[in-house]
Amino acid sequence: MTSPEERINYLDHAATTPVRREVLEKMLPYFSEKFGNPSSLYSLAGEGRYGIDEARELTADVLGSRSSEIVFTGGGSESNNLAIKGTAALRSSTTGHILTTAIEHHAVIHPVEQLEKLGYESTYIGVDETGRVDPDEFAAAVRPDTFLASVMLVNNEVGTIQDVAAIAQKTREAAKQVGGEILIHTDAVQGAGKLSLDVNVLNVDLMSLSGHKIYGPKGAGVLYVRRGVELEPLIAGGGQERQRRSGTENVASIVGFGESLRLAEAERASSNLKMTDLSTRLIEGVSERIPDSFFNGSRTHRVPEISNFSFPGVEGEPILLGLDFKGIAASSGSACSSASLEPSHVLLAMGVSPELAVGSVRISLGRETTEADIDDVLQALSDVLGQLATFPSAKN
Ligand SMILES: Cc1ncc(COP(=O)(O)O)c(C=O)c1O
Repeated sequence: MTSPEERINYLDHAATTPVRREVLEKMLPYFSEKFGNPSSLYSLAGEGRYGIDEARELTADVLGSRSSEIVFTGGGSESNNLAIKGTAALRSSTTGHILTTAIEHHAVIHPVEQLEKLGYESTYIGVDETGRVDPDEFAAAVRPDTFLASVMLVNNEVGTIQDVAAIAQKTREAAKQVGGEILIHTDAVQGAGKLSLDVNVLNVDLMSLSGHKIYGPKGAGVLYVRRGVELEPLIAGGGQERQRRSGTENVASIVGFGESLRLAEAERASSNLKMTDLSTRLIEGVSERIPDSFFNGSRTHRVPEISNFSFPGVEGEPILLGLDFKGIAASSGSACSSASLEPSHVLLAMGVSPELAVGSVRISLGRETTEADIDDVLQALSDVLGQLATFPSAKN
Protein backbone atom coordinates (compact mmCIF):
# COMPACT_ATOMS: atom_id res chain seq x y z
CA MET A 1 0.00 0.00 0.00
CA THR A 2 1.15 3.53 -0.62
CA SER A 3 1.51 6.01 2.20
CA PRO A 4 -0.89 8.97 1.99
CA GLU A 5 1.83 11.37 0.85
CA GLU A 6 2.84 9.15 -2.08
CA ARG A 7 1.12 9.92 -5.38
CA ILE A 8 -1.09 7.08 -6.58
CA ASN A 9 -0.56 6.14 -10.20
CA TYR A 10 -4.28 6.28 -10.95
CA LEU A 11 -5.06 4.33 -14.12
CA ASP A 12 -8.78 3.78 -13.68
CA HIS A 13 -10.26 6.88 -15.32
CA ALA A 14 -12.97 4.84 -17.04
CA ALA A 15 -14.33 4.07 -13.56
CA THR A 16 -14.28 7.66 -12.39
CA THR A 17 -12.19 10.83 -12.46
CA PRO A 18 -11.39 13.43 -9.83
CA VAL A 19 -13.31 16.71 -10.01
CA ARG A 20 -10.94 19.16 -11.63
CA ARG A 21 -10.11 22.36 -9.83
CA GLU A 22 -11.80 24.74 -12.32
CA VAL A 23 -15.00 22.71 -12.05
CA LEU A 24 -14.90 22.62 -8.26
CA GLU A 25 -14.39 26.39 -8.13
CA LYS A 26 -17.43 26.98 -10.32
CA MET A 27 -19.50 24.67 -8.14
CA LEU A 28 -18.53 25.96 -4.70
CA PRO A 29 -20.63 29.19 -4.55
CA TYR A 30 -23.79 27.16 -5.19
CA PHE A 31 -23.51 25.25 -1.92
CA SER A 32 -23.82 28.03 0.60
CA GLU A 33 -23.96 31.42 -1.14
CA LYS A 34 -26.10 30.99 -4.26
CA PHE A 35 -28.18 28.34 -2.52
CA GLY A 36 -31.70 29.50 -3.46
CA ASN A 37 -34.22 27.06 -4.87
CA PRO A 38 -34.13 27.77 -8.61
CA SER A 39 -37.94 27.57 -8.76
CA SER A 40 -38.43 30.46 -6.30
CA LEU A 41 -39.09 33.98 -7.46
CA TYR A 42 -36.63 36.11 -5.46
CA SER A 43 -33.24 37.12 -6.80
CA LEU A 44 -31.25 34.58 -4.72
CA ALA A 45 -33.10 31.86 -6.61
CA GLY A 46 -32.33 33.59 -9.88
CA GLU A 47 -28.63 32.93 -9.36
CA GLY A 48 -29.24 29.20 -9.22
CA ARG A 49 -31.52 29.42 -12.22
CA TYR A 50 -28.88 31.33 -14.12
CA GLY A 51 -26.27 28.68 -13.25
CA ILE A 52 -28.54 25.92 -14.56
CA ASP A 53 -29.41 27.86 -17.71
CA GLU A 54 -25.75 28.45 -18.45
CA ALA A 55 -24.89 24.77 -17.92
CA ARG A 56 -27.74 23.79 -20.21
CA GLU A 57 -26.48 26.11 -22.93
CA LEU A 58 -22.89 24.88 -22.57
CA THR A 59 -24.10 21.30 -22.86
CA ALA A 60 -26.33 22.05 -25.85
CA ASP A 61 -23.39 23.75 -27.60
CA VAL A 62 -21.29 20.60 -27.31
CA LEU A 63 -24.14 18.39 -28.53
CA GLY A 64 -25.23 20.71 -31.35
CA SER A 65 -28.73 20.66 -29.86
CA ARG A 66 -31.28 23.10 -28.47
CA SER A 67 -30.93 23.83 -24.79
CA SER A 68 -34.56 22.74 -24.28
CA GLU A 69 -33.50 19.24 -25.35
CA ILE A 70 -31.12 18.83 -22.38
CA VAL A 71 -32.47 17.06 -19.28
CA PHE A 72 -30.25 17.06 -16.19
CA THR A 73 -30.37 13.78 -14.29
CA GLY A 74 -28.63 12.04 -11.42
CA GLY A 75 -26.00 10.42 -13.66
CA GLY A 76 -25.44 8.08 -16.57
CA SER A 77 -27.42 5.19 -15.08
CA GLU A 78 -30.47 7.37 -14.52
CA SER A 79 -30.20 8.78 -18.04
CA ASN A 80 -30.13 5.28 -19.53
CA ASN A 81 -33.07 4.20 -17.37
CA LEU A 82 -35.05 7.28 -18.36
CA ALA A 83 -34.37 6.72 -22.06
CA ILE A 84 -35.35 3.04 -21.93
CA LYS A 85 -38.17 2.91 -19.39
CA GLY A 86 -39.43 6.39 -20.22
CA THR A 87 -40.06 5.48 -23.85
CA ALA A 88 -41.43 2.03 -22.99
CA ALA A 89 -43.90 3.43 -20.44
CA LEU A 90 -45.61 5.57 -23.05
CA ARG A 91 -46.69 2.57 -25.10
CA SER A 92 -50.33 1.62 -24.91
CA SER A 93 -49.49 -1.85 -23.58
CA THR A 94 -46.44 -3.51 -22.06
CA THR A 95 -45.46 -5.02 -25.38
CA GLY A 96 -42.95 -4.05 -28.02
CA HIS A 97 -39.39 -4.79 -28.92
CA ILE A 98 -36.07 -3.21 -27.91
CA LEU A 99 -32.96 -3.72 -29.97
CA THR A 100 -29.61 -3.40 -28.26
CA THR A 101 -26.18 -5.04 -28.13
CA ALA A 102 -24.53 -7.71 -26.04
CA ILE A 103 -21.81 -5.34 -24.81
CA GLU A 104 -23.83 -2.52 -23.28
CA HIS A 105 -23.18 -1.30 -19.77
CA HIS A 106 -25.40 -2.89 -17.12
CA ALA A 107 -27.15 0.48 -16.84
CA VAL A 108 -28.69 -0.40 -20.21
CA ILE A 109 -28.92 -4.19 -19.95
CA HIS A 110 -30.61 -4.28 -16.55
CA PRO A 111 -33.41 -1.82 -17.33
CA VAL A 112 -34.07 -3.76 -20.54
CA GLU A 113 -34.24 -6.95 -18.48
CA GLN A 114 -36.68 -5.27 -16.09
CA LEU A 115 -38.90 -4.47 -19.06
CA GLU A 116 -38.67 -8.07 -20.28
CA LYS A 117 -40.25 -9.15 -17.00
CA LEU A 118 -43.20 -6.87 -17.78
CA GLY A 119 -43.74 -8.39 -21.22
CA TYR A 120 -41.51 -6.39 -23.55
CA GLU A 121 -39.14 -8.32 -25.82
CA SER A 122 -35.55 -7.58 -26.68
CA THR A 123 -32.68 -8.67 -28.91
CA TYR A 124 -29.01 -8.31 -28.01
CA ILE A 125 -26.90 -8.12 -31.17
CA GLY A 126 -23.45 -9.69 -30.84
CA VAL A 127 -20.08 -8.19 -31.74
CA ASP A 128 -16.97 -9.33 -33.58
CA GLU A 129 -13.71 -10.21 -31.81
CA THR A 130 -12.78 -6.52 -31.62
CA GLY A 131 -16.06 -5.56 -29.95
CA ARG A 132 -17.68 -3.99 -33.02
CA VAL A 133 -21.34 -4.26 -33.98
CA ASP A 134 -22.09 -4.82 -37.68
CA PRO A 135 -24.58 -2.06 -38.65
CA ASP A 136 -26.26 -4.32 -41.25
CA GLU A 137 -26.72 -7.15 -38.78
CA PHE A 138 -28.11 -4.70 -36.23
CA ALA A 139 -30.57 -3.13 -38.66
CA ALA A 140 -31.68 -6.54 -39.93
CA ALA A 141 -33.06 -7.32 -36.47
CA VAL A 142 -35.56 -4.43 -36.56
CA ARG A 143 -39.18 -5.60 -36.24
CA PRO A 144 -42.38 -3.68 -36.91
CA ASP A 145 -42.85 -3.35 -33.13
CA THR A 146 -39.26 -2.25 -32.36
CA PHE A 147 -39.70 1.09 -30.60
CA LEU A 148 -36.17 1.65 -29.30
CA ALA A 149 -32.63 0.84 -30.41
CA SER A 150 -29.82 1.45 -27.93
CA VAL A 151 -26.15 1.26 -28.90
CA MET A 152 -23.26 2.57 -26.83
CA LEU A 153 -20.79 4.98 -28.43
CA VAL A 154 -17.66 3.73 -26.60
CA ASN A 155 -17.42 0.54 -24.60
CA ASN A 156 -16.33 1.10 -21.01
CA GLU A 157 -14.31 -2.12 -20.70
CA VAL A 158 -12.38 -2.29 -23.97
CA GLY A 159 -12.74 1.21 -25.45
CA THR A 160 -14.15 0.03 -28.79
CA ILE A 161 -16.04 2.71 -30.72
CA GLN A 162 -19.29 1.87 -32.51
CA ASP A 163 -20.27 3.52 -35.77
CA VAL A 164 -23.42 4.92 -34.18
CA ALA A 165 -24.21 7.14 -37.18
CA ALA A 166 -24.20 4.20 -39.61
CA ILE A 167 -26.12 1.98 -37.21
CA ALA A 168 -28.72 4.74 -36.70
CA GLN A 169 -29.13 5.39 -40.41
CA LYS A 170 -29.52 1.73 -41.35
CA THR A 171 -31.79 1.07 -38.40
CA ARG A 172 -34.07 3.96 -39.31
CA GLU A 173 -34.25 2.74 -42.92
CA ALA A 174 -35.08 -0.77 -41.75
CA ALA A 175 -37.81 0.58 -39.45
CA LYS A 176 -39.30 2.56 -42.32
CA GLN A 177 -39.37 -0.53 -44.51
CA VAL A 178 -41.32 -2.56 -41.95
CA GLY A 179 -43.61 0.36 -41.21
CA GLY A 180 -42.33 0.83 -37.66
CA GLU A 181 -41.40 3.89 -35.65
CA ILE A 182 -38.11 3.72 -33.83
CA LEU A 183 -36.11 5.94 -31.49
CA ILE A 184 -32.31 5.68 -31.37
CA HIS A 185 -30.54 5.99 -28.04
CA THR A 186 -26.81 6.02 -27.42
CA ASP A 187 -25.04 5.65 -24.10
CA ALA A 188 -22.21 8.11 -24.78
CA VAL A 189 -20.94 8.16 -21.19
CA GLN A 190 -17.47 6.95 -22.22
CA GLY A 191 -17.39 9.05 -25.39
CA ALA A 192 -17.45 12.51 -23.82
CA GLY A 193 -14.15 14.36 -24.13
CA LYS A 194 -12.95 11.68 -26.54
CA LEU A 195 -15.28 11.85 -29.56
CA SER A 196 -17.68 14.34 -31.11
CA LEU A 197 -21.03 14.26 -29.36
CA ASP A 198 -22.91 16.02 -32.17
CA VAL A 199 -26.37 14.48 -31.94
CA ASN A 200 -27.19 15.35 -35.54
CA VAL A 201 -24.08 13.66 -36.92
CA LEU A 202 -24.65 10.67 -34.66
CA ASN A 203 -28.28 10.73 -35.81
CA VAL A 204 -29.68 9.89 -32.37
CA ASP A 205 -32.88 10.86 -30.54
CA LEU A 206 -31.61 10.19 -27.03
CA MET A 207 -28.10 10.36 -25.60
CA SER A 208 -26.82 9.67 -22.07
CA LEU A 209 -23.86 11.43 -20.46
CA SER A 210 -22.30 11.33 -17.00
CA GLY A 211 -20.31 14.01 -15.15
CA HIS A 212 -17.87 11.90 -13.17
CA LYS A 213 -16.16 10.40 -16.22
CA ILE A 214 -15.11 13.88 -17.39
CA TYR A 215 -13.68 15.42 -14.21
CA GLY A 216 -17.10 16.59 -13.10
CA PRO A 217 -19.15 15.58 -10.07
CA LYS A 218 -20.60 12.13 -9.41
CA GLY A 219 -24.38 11.85 -9.44
CA ALA A 220 -24.74 14.35 -12.28
CA GLY A 221 -25.72 13.44 -15.81
CA VAL A 222 -27.66 14.43 -18.88
CA LEU A 223 -30.20 12.83 -21.12
CA TYR A 224 -30.45 14.56 -24.48
CA VAL A 225 -34.05 14.23 -25.70
CA ARG A 226 -34.68 15.28 -29.29
CA ARG A 227 -37.55 17.75 -29.68
CA GLY A 228 -40.82 15.91 -30.17
CA VAL A 229 -39.71 12.74 -28.33
CA GLU A 230 -42.08 11.98 -25.47
CA LEU A 231 -40.94 10.32 -22.25
CA GLU A 232 -42.73 9.20 -19.13
CA PRO A 233 -40.65 10.59 -16.26
CA LEU A 234 -39.08 8.13 -13.84
CA ILE A 235 -39.37 10.69 -11.06
CA ALA A 236 -42.66 12.54 -10.84
CA GLY A 237 -43.17 15.54 -8.62
CA GLY A 238 -42.74 19.27 -8.99
CA GLY A 239 -42.28 19.09 -12.75
CA GLN A 240 -38.71 20.40 -13.00
CA GLU A 241 -36.73 19.84 -16.21
CA ARG A 242 -39.88 20.49 -18.30
CA GLN A 243 -41.77 17.71 -16.53
CA ARG A 244 -39.12 15.15 -17.45
CA ARG A 245 -37.23 14.89 -14.16
CA SER A 246 -38.79 16.21 -10.99
CA GLY A 247 -36.93 17.20 -7.86
CA THR A 248 -35.25 20.40 -6.75
CA GLU A 249 -32.27 20.74 -9.03
CA ASN A 250 -28.82 19.75 -7.81
CA VAL A 251 -27.59 23.17 -8.88
CA ALA A 252 -23.92 22.84 -7.93
CA SER A 253 -23.62 19.50 -9.72
CA ILE A 254 -25.44 20.75 -12.80
CA VAL A 255 -23.11 23.75 -12.95
CA GLY A 256 -20.16 21.38 -12.48
CA PHE A 257 -21.42 19.10 -15.22
CA GLY A 258 -21.70 21.98 -17.71
CA GLU A 259 -18.22 23.23 -16.96
CA SER A 260 -16.63 19.77 -17.09
CA LEU A 261 -18.23 19.06 -20.46
CA ARG A 262 -17.18 22.47 -21.82
CA LEU A 263 -13.57 21.87 -20.77
CA ALA A 264 -13.56 18.27 -22.03
CA GLU A 265 -14.73 19.44 -25.44
CA ALA A 266 -12.32 22.38 -25.59
CA GLU A 267 -9.38 20.08 -24.82
CA ARG A 268 -10.56 17.10 -26.86
CA ALA A 269 -8.17 17.43 -29.81
CA SER A 270 -5.02 18.04 -27.75
CA SER A 271 -5.97 15.33 -25.26
CA ASN A 272 -6.46 12.85 -28.09
CA LEU A 273 -2.91 13.39 -29.36
CA LYS A 274 -1.41 12.93 -25.91
CA MET A 275 -3.55 9.88 -25.13
CA THR A 276 -2.70 8.23 -28.44
CA ASP A 277 1.04 8.49 -27.72
CA LEU A 278 0.62 7.16 -24.20
CA SER A 279 -1.61 4.35 -25.36
CA THR A 280 0.88 3.25 -28.02
CA ARG A 281 3.62 3.19 -25.40
CA LEU A 282 1.41 1.07 -23.14
CA ILE A 283 0.23 -1.44 -25.74
CA GLU A 284 3.68 -1.90 -27.29
CA GLY A 285 5.24 -2.14 -23.85
CA VAL A 286 2.83 -4.85 -22.70
CA SER A 287 3.36 -6.95 -25.82
CA GLU A 288 7.17 -6.61 -25.56
CA ARG A 289 7.43 -7.34 -21.85
CA ILE A 290 4.64 -9.91 -21.55
CA PRO A 291 4.66 -11.73 -24.89
CA ASP A 292 1.93 -14.22 -23.97
CA SER A 293 -0.53 -11.42 -23.13
CA PHE A 294 -3.58 -10.62 -25.27
CA PHE A 295 -4.87 -7.19 -26.21
CA ASN A 296 -8.68 -7.18 -26.07
CA GLY A 297 -10.37 -4.70 -28.38
CA SER A 298 -10.02 -2.97 -31.70
CA ARG A 299 -6.71 -1.54 -32.86
CA THR A 300 -8.41 0.86 -35.25
CA HIS A 301 -11.81 1.79 -33.78
CA ARG A 302 -10.87 2.59 -30.22
CA VAL A 303 -10.41 5.44 -27.80
CA PRO A 304 -6.78 5.55 -26.64
CA GLU A 305 -7.78 6.15 -23.02
CA ILE A 306 -9.01 2.57 -22.46
CA SER A 307 -6.88 -0.56 -22.97
CA ASN A 308 -7.74 -4.08 -21.90
CA PHE A 309 -5.35 -7.02 -21.65
CA SER A 310 -5.65 -10.70 -20.71
CA PHE A 311 -2.88 -12.69 -19.10
CA PRO A 312 -3.26 -16.47 -19.51
CA GLY A 313 -3.41 -18.58 -16.37
CA VAL A 314 -3.82 -15.64 -14.00
CA GLU A 315 -6.95 -14.04 -12.57
CA GLY A 316 -7.39 -10.30 -12.66
CA GLU A 317 -7.79 -9.91 -8.91
CA PRO A 318 -4.28 -10.94 -7.76
CA ILE A 319 -2.82 -8.76 -10.52
CA LEU A 320 -4.82 -5.77 -9.31
CA LEU A 321 -3.84 -6.41 -5.71
CA GLY A 322 -0.19 -6.66 -6.76
CA LEU A 323 -0.49 -3.38 -8.68
CA ASP A 324 -2.23 -1.73 -5.74
CA PHE A 325 0.64 -2.79 -3.50
CA LYS A 326 2.92 -0.88 -5.85
CA GLY A 327 0.71 2.22 -5.74
CA ILE A 328 -1.11 1.65 -9.03
CA ALA A 329 -4.90 1.73 -9.36
CA ALA A 330 -6.26 -0.23 -12.32
CA SER A 331 -9.33 -2.36 -12.72
CA SER A 332 -10.36 -5.80 -13.72
CA GLY A 333 -12.29 -6.03 -16.95
CA SER A 334 -14.57 -8.45 -15.20
CA ALA A 335 -15.99 -6.15 -12.56
CA CYS A 336 -16.65 -2.49 -13.09
CA SER A 337 -19.14 -1.80 -10.36
CA SER A 338 -19.20 -4.87 -8.15
CA ALA A 339 -16.69 -7.19 -6.60
CA SER A 340 -17.96 -10.01 -8.78
CA LEU A 341 -15.42 -12.34 -10.28
CA GLU A 342 -17.76 -13.39 -13.06
CA PRO A 343 -16.10 -13.15 -16.46
CA SER A 344 -17.04 -9.94 -18.23
CA HIS A 345 -20.08 -10.18 -20.53
CA VAL A 346 -18.28 -7.84 -22.92
CA LEU A 347 -15.20 -10.06 -23.29
CA LEU A 348 -17.34 -13.19 -23.57
CA ALA A 349 -19.39 -11.53 -26.33
CA MET A 350 -16.10 -10.79 -28.14
CA GLY A 351 -15.32 -14.50 -28.05
CA VAL A 352 -12.65 -14.31 -25.33
CA SER A 353 -12.59 -17.61 -23.38
CA PRO A 354 -13.92 -17.49 -19.79
CA GLU A 355 -10.41 -18.40 -18.51
CA LEU A 356 -8.83 -15.44 -20.31
CA ALA A 357 -11.75 -13.15 -19.49
CA VAL A 358 -11.22 -13.58 -15.74
CA GLY A 359 -7.56 -12.72 -16.21
CA SER A 360 -8.23 -9.37 -17.79
CA VAL A 361 -7.01 -5.98 -16.64
CA ARG A 362 -8.30 -2.61 -17.82
CA ILE A 363 -5.90 0.31 -17.78
CA SER A 364 -7.56 3.65 -18.42
CA LEU A 365 -5.55 6.83 -18.84
CA GLY A 366 -6.37 10.39 -17.86
CA ARG A 367 -5.23 14.02 -17.97
CA GLU A 368 -2.52 13.57 -15.37
CA THR A 369 -1.07 10.37 -16.82
CA THR A 370 2.56 10.70 -17.94
CA GLU A 371 5.03 8.55 -19.86
CA ALA A 372 6.66 7.76 -16.51
CA ASP A 373 3.32 6.43 -15.24
CA ILE A 374 3.11 4.12 -18.26
CA ASP A 375 6.67 2.88 -17.68
CA ASP A 376 5.79 2.39 -14.02
CA VAL A 377 2.77 0.20 -14.78
CA LEU A 378 4.72 -1.78 -17.40
CA GLN A 379 7.42 -2.56 -14.85
CA ALA A 380 4.87 -3.33 -12.15
CA LEU A 381 2.86 -5.63 -14.43
CA SER A 382 5.88 -7.69 -15.40
CA ASP A 383 7.02 -7.87 -11.75
CA VAL A 384 3.58 -8.91 -10.49
CA LEU A 385 3.09 -11.48 -13.25
CA GLY A 386 6.58 -12.80 -12.59
CA GLN A 387 5.79 -13.19 -8.89
CA LEU A 388 2.49 -14.92 -9.65
CA ALA A 389 4.34 -17.33 -11.97
CA THR A 390 6.90 -18.04 -9.21
CA PHE A 391 4.14 -18.73 -6.69
CA PRO A 392 1.61 -20.54 -8.85
CA SER A 393 -0.66 -21.20 -5.86
CA ALA A 394 -1.40 -17.46 -5.86
CA LYS A 395 -2.42 -17.56 -9.50
CA ASN A 396 -6.01 -18.73 -9.26
C1 LIG B 1 -20.81 3.19 -20.54
C2 LIG B 1 -21.37 3.59 -19.22
N1 LIG B 1 -22.68 3.83 -19.12
C3 LIG B 1 -23.24 4.21 -17.96
C4 LIG B 1 -22.49 4.34 -16.82
C5 LIG B 1 -23.15 4.75 -15.54
O1 LIG B 1 -22.91 6.11 -15.26
P1 LIG B 1 -23.09 6.65 -13.76
O2 LIG B 1 -22.00 6.07 -12.95
O3 LIG B 1 -23.00 8.14 -13.89
O4 LIG B 1 -24.45 6.23 -13.31
C6 LIG B 1 -21.11 4.09 -16.88
C7 LIG B 1 -20.27 4.18 -15.66
O5 LIG B 1 -19.63 3.25 -15.24
C8 LIG B 1 -20.53 3.70 -18.11
O6 LIG B 1 -19.24 3.44 -18.22
